[in-house]
Amino acid sequence: MINPLLLVLTVTIQAPTDSIAIIPRPVSVTRHPGSFVLRDRMNVLTTEDLRPLADQLVAYLRPATGYEFFVSTLTTPSQEPGRATPFIALRVDSSLAVHGPEAYSLTVNVGIVVIRGATAAGVFHGIQSLRQLLPPEIFRKAPAGNVGWAIPCVTIDDWPRFGWRGMHLDVVRHFMPKEFVEKYIDLLALYKFNRFHWHLTDDQGWRIEIKRYPKLTSVGGWRAQTLVGKQSDDTAHAVYDSTRHGGFYTQEDIREVVAYAARRFITVVPEIEMPGHAQAAISAYPELGSTGQPVKVKEDWGVSEWILSPSDSTIAFMENVLTEVMDLFPGKWIHTGGDEAVKTQWKASPLAQQRIKTLELKNEDALQGWFTARVDSFLAAHGRTLVGWDEILDGGLSPNAVVMSWRGIDGGIAAARAGHDAVMAPGDYTYFDHYQSGDRDSEPTAIGGFLPLDSVYAYDPVPASLTPDQALHILGGQGQVWTEYIPDPKRVEYMAFPRMEALSEVLWTPRARMDFADFFARLATADVARLDALDVRYRSPALTVSPPRRGGQGHRNR
Ligand code: ACM
Repeated sequence: MINPLLLVLTVTIQAPTDSIAIIPRPVSVTRHPGSFVLRDRMNVLTTEDLRPLADQLVAYLRPATGYEFFVSTLTTPSQEPGRATPFIALRVDSSLAVHGPEAYSLTVNVGIVVIRGATAAGVFHGIQSLRQLLPPEIFRKAPAGNVGWAIPCVTIDDWPRFGWRGMHLDVVRHFMPKEFVEKYIDLLALYKFNRFHWHLTDDQGWRIEIKRYPKLTSVGGWRAQTLVGKQSDDTAHAVYDSTRHGGFYTQEDIREVVAYAARRFITVVPEIEMPGHAQAAISAYPELGSTGQPVKVKEDWGVSEWILSPSDSTIAFMENVLTEVMDLFPGKWIHTGGDEAVKTQWKASPLAQQRIKTLELKNEDALQGWFTARVDSFLAAHGRTLVGWDEILDGGLSPNAVVMSWRGIDGGIAAARAGHDAVMAPGDYTYFDHYQSGDRDSEPTAIGGFLPLDSVYAYDPVPASLTPDQALHILGGQGQVWTEYIPDPKRVEYMAFPRMEALSEVLWTPRARMDFADFFARLATADVARLDALDVRYRSPALTVSPPRRGGQGHRNR
């Protein structure tokens, strides 16, 4: 048995090489002597279109400093120079767009801070970097005392490596309150993520209000009880907690979260699972299922055999659901799941078998391919793009689909070779429900696996086997937080942090600028203090360098 304390001692924390502790590490940082000091009644100058961002910057800076800031909008940026008092300026500079719409530059001099962005999104990212240049107390929500709000003089030029920098959250297995979802989005923004994948429906619950089908939430939103402890094959001895669990977001809640994310330049990608992982929907409306039999909302974990019927009426039902979903989520992408759709019920269903025959399909996988293609063309007709887990490849890929590769990287490779876009989400590198230590006894119960911080950091979303042209189809990557064994927000934080910070760097920072020791130093010297101030219950990064795993590979699947 290796003593974890000894392991802590073996982690030597160096100072970050440019003594700038921004995560994700920027493309280019040049340190200059001196600093800019925030003070009371300081001006923030901006243009009219960036006024909301200036207000947001003030909202970030005011609580901890206790200072007042005056936002003034200029008609032209050239009015800036010549002002005697220190100020912060925000502006769009389209010349930065050579590095993409999210590029920004941040210049800190003794008297002036200027954040330029290729677009407003770039300015927003620059503001996040500015927050991280300040002492960590800036993240407190009440005046933090005599901190001395110095920002080191620096020139930063920065832009992301990937356009899809995602984090997922399963709010089905355990419901997460709207307030926490918004906190999560705030944290995504701080580390420059730009996609929030909201896993809203599954076997264990339906968490989004659909006006036309109220039973989806009144029935499907609640399970009578939940399995206690780890899922096992010994179902006869399973113990349940006798506690009703559930909840859902009203359409007003959803609009609020989507707007909250949009102000942080984060697109929310809703996931509505079909044809599998649909037991909660079938519990609400048994006619959606493939057997016609009633079933309750699932009370344990693992993969359910309940699958939607490939009937016209079920597909019409799901299209009506998606119509309301599209009204709530203005983003381009709608995720329709597609993973782990067990075909037993389709094999026994006369309707499903008739479909296979009439359509001259090869098998049930091809029937799922047909189902997905119907939904794909429905979404495409409304200007949206279907995203699905990599099982959507198994029965023939729909024309417009984006593949989210979770069973390793092969799905992403196959999609890119077929000319489809892909998001890399392989379990071995991006599943933050996996253990963070090889010593499982020292950790809260997790689903399995072993994914320490340095493994996340080492992951490169672009598979080496792709040609440069094919590699352009890799939109980016995403971290997953499935919540079977994550009962509440604090545990989400424990599982996601600091692995999310490591992933942010994978998705933003050029490979040549990545260095685990430097990342670790930024994490340990500054970032954990930020997380403390933000009341995020991260797992201690000192403990993250772990003994080798015990007892084999763990789960690849959740
Ligand atoms: C998945 O983890 N079943 C996508």
